[in-house]
Amino acid sequence: MTAENIENDLAPVAAVIVLAAGGGSRMKSSKSKLLHEISGKTMLHYAVSAGAALDPEQLVVVVGSFREQVIEHLGQLSASVTTALQEEQLGTGHAVACGLADLGELTGEVVVTYGDVPLLTGDTLRQLVAVHRAHFNGVTVLTAHVEEPTGYGRILRDGERVVGIVEHRDATEEQRQITEINSGIYVFDAEILREGLAQLGTDNAQGEQYLTDVLTFAHEGNHRVGAVVTDDIWQTEGVNDRIQLARINAEMNRRILDRWMLDGVTIMDPQSTFVDLDVDLARDVVLMPGTILQGATTIGEGAIIGPDTSLMDVEVGAGAEVVRTHGSFAIVGEEAHVGPFSYLRPGTQLGRGGKIGAFVETKNAVIGENSKVPHLAYCGDAILDDDVNIGAGTIFANYDGVNKSPTHVGKGAFVGSNSVLVAPVDIAPGAFVAAGSAITEDVPAGGLAIARGRQHNAEGWVVKRRPETKAATAAAEHDGSIHPAVEESRSQQKG
Ligand code: UD1
Ligand code: CA
Repeated sequence: MTAENIENDLAPVAAVIVLAAGGGSRMKSSKSKLLHEISGKTMLHYAVSAGAALDPEQLVVVVGSFREQVIEHLGQLSASVTTALQEEQLGTGHAVACGLADLGELTGEVVVTYGDVPLLTGDTLRQLVAVHRAHFNGVTVLTAHVEEPTGYGRILRDGERVVGIVEHRDATEEQRQITEINSGIYVFDAEILREGLAQLGTDNAQGEQYLTDVLTFAHEGNHRVGAVVTDDIWQTEGVNDRIQLARINAEMNRRILDRWMLDGVTIMDPQSTFVDLDVDLARDVVLMPGTILQGATTIGEGAIIGPDTSLMDVEVGAGAEVVRTHGSFAIVGEEAHVGPFSYLRPGTQLGRGGKIGAFVETKNAVIGENSKVPHLAYCGDAILDDDVNIGAGTIFANYDGVNKSPTHVGKGAFVGSNSVLVAPVDIAPGAFVAAGSAITEDVPAGGLAIARGRQHNAEGWVVKRRPETKAATAAAEHDGSIHPAVEESRSQQKG
């Protein structure tokens, strides 16, 4: 029953119960399995958003292991989610009973999902509910045909109808040949669920209360038990260890990249490109190999990112280029250029058409339109107005060992190479700073600041003090002329 249309206006279900009491011991982690991330979001985030797509009157998460962590995280995810405690993990049936006990008297449908199945979508749940209603089922289970069903519960059928589910460990050799597996995701009529749970025993290989036995109970009580077979088996896959975490992460990433490519983004090498769920990309963005876009990063139309670039919560404007860069909490203006080998730290804002070039580190630096910090610089706690040029090797000395202080460079100002601007200091609009200066005092508008030792040439020093060296020989052979390139440039600048 795969071809059913999803109803557009699906009436809400009574409740969604997300099972999340399991410890995830195979993760070998000091945090709950459910707080591990896939494409920048926790597994719990996916479980809660899929459930929320059904617009349930109540959504309860059954917690157990790592409950403090899980409850705290749920508080950040949604205000309307509640939690129910399962002290001891006595089986999936017991877990649902714990959830149900917290929901009070309820009629209608109860949807059960797991906290560790991140690729399950709200659309699939909606389809499950739609089929459940269309067929007047008492229970509807999401199933899939898999090549390697070992470990899963197997679906026992009588044609269309499901007559029961047998766990792998309880199954006969013959039943183990069945390749249709139980995803563990269901829609129940609340009353059938309540009655079925009340009758659960533990007479099985694991000595647990199996939720799956409720389906046998329902069938034997002459309620219809149906199934929706999904052909997207990823939507039924859980994460139990870090190998599965990596597999599911790769698949989620593949799905995110496919969506962006269909939306007009060029991705040169999807294998080496990672884009978090919340990232936003405009048309004609190009992502080069080795690009990692995280958090709430947004990239404007036609911008080119990469290769080898990682951006976390960075906003890149249309037509900008960001090459071999690591950045976080920064803004890159339209048509601006960053990289290669740039480090954008939080609070960096580069204006339209500006440049942050090779081996430049910026932090809390607001850089105006068409302003350029092209080479080998540190620019921290800085305000640069428009059309500023910062020479190679300039250091904004913002920290005196105790306090951080700001530096302002006014519109059109020019800072010569290898200068140190000792903050707090103000370089007024149109001012020049001579190369190699250590600026400790404000520079007036249109003034030239020179703050360095004067050059002194000791004539004939090498011949006298380093005789018989290559330098001495070269000096002796020289005719006294200036190199023509230097000479020419000098005469052009004079003229
Ligand atoms: C369960 C199903 C099996 C199905 C498989 C799909 C049962 C008896 N079996 O098996 O048919 O093929 O899922 O993955 O239901 N949980 C609790 N409390 C508990 C037990 C489990 O919260 O007491 C939670 C776990 O955290 C997990 C989920 O329920 O998220 C599934 O539990 P798990 O033990 O993995 O079930 P399986 O044995 O894999
Ligand atoms: Ca499992």
